Amino acid sequence: MEKYDSIQPIRWSRKGLLLLDQRRLPAHRVELCCRSASEVADAIRDMVVRGAPAIGIAAAYGVALAVRSRYQENPESWREAIAADLDILTTSRPTAVNLFWALKRMAALMVPDGEDPVPRFESEAIAIHDEDIAANHRMGELGAALISEPSGILTHCNAGALATGGYGTALGVIRSAFAAGKLRQVYADETRPWLQGARLTAWELEKDGIPAQLIADGAAAYLMQRGMIRWVVVGSDRIAANGDVANKIGTYGLAVNARHHGVGFMVVAPTSTLDMSIASGLDIPIEERSSEEVLNFQGISIAPQGGTAWNPVFDVTPAALVDVLVTERGVVKQPNREKLIALMAKG
Ligand code: MRU
Repeated sequence: MEKYDSIQPIRWSRKGLLLLDQRRLPAHRVELCCRSASEVADAIRDMVVRGAPAIGIAAAYGVALAVRSRYQENPESWREAIAADLDILTTSRPTAVNLFWALKRMAALMVPDGEDPVPRFESEAIAIHDEDIAANHRMGELGAALISEPSGILTHCNAGALATGGYGTALGVIRSAFAAGKLRQVYADETRPWLQGARLTAWELEKDGIPAQLIADGAAAYLMQRGMIRWVVVGSDRIAANGDVANKIGTYGLAVNARHHGVGFMVVAPTSTLDMSIASGLDIPIEERSSEEVLNFQGISIAPQGGTAWNPVFDVTPAALVDVLVTERGVVKQPNREKLIALMAKG
């Protein structure tokens, strides 16, 4: 295993799909075994596995599990039976387009050819997983090449190994920049309310010996004002055809602040995150999760009894605030519709 590749959030085994339970990190490192598509859908909904590419990969394996059991039940009618499994996976979370991308790719294998379908579905899920890791390494190189000197970098949420097949998108760039001697210090937003930054990003960086400090989300603008960072580097859950970027709530505020302070804003995402069917970010469905996530912390109420909360978990950063988009197919400066069409045409 290569350096910086030790975290494996998703593992395919004979028993089923093994997911590192991200709700329990960093205190506990336990794997949960999903044996059916509906268990995978629950794991996605409940954030056992999270992060756009990781959600897509898990869903692909969920389809492989469904094919395995439906074909065993009835080799004649497995194709009809699987529709219910696909529905359950489709409705697990709404924002990350990688989920729908992976399900579409798996559904394309549904052709009747008289052969046992199980091996081809398993191989396709494994290919989706392997391709994601390779894309992350490529984006790591491309993104690190844009950083010209040892710099301070701010990241938000967790776009690391845990959010992907491995290595990470934004954290992939950070890992590659560190390896190239271009990183002075990472600042990780704690990322209220689910604390992906505190619980997951800080854990990943600490494990890899990358210098990192956690900051409260509200400290980010002050950090920029004091000239402590050159780049904000984030991942994405869905990028519209015009380059608008949906990502973890708080990303938009960082982009506005970055532009105000002359700090670069870099989005790192594989092309499986691009949704060319959606004209602009206005059309991206934004998930709203339970208000309990805001009102409580680890089961303890942190707000007045009877208090209410609104919990949108993603926001949309307009393309005009994005300095550069890094994908495995190449780098797009000041992304817009024409440039993204050209990128996708590269194949
Ligand atoms: O709610 P989450 O934890 O699934 O949100 C994850 C993010 O917003 C990530 O930044 C995004 O999925 C990119 S992950 C490479």
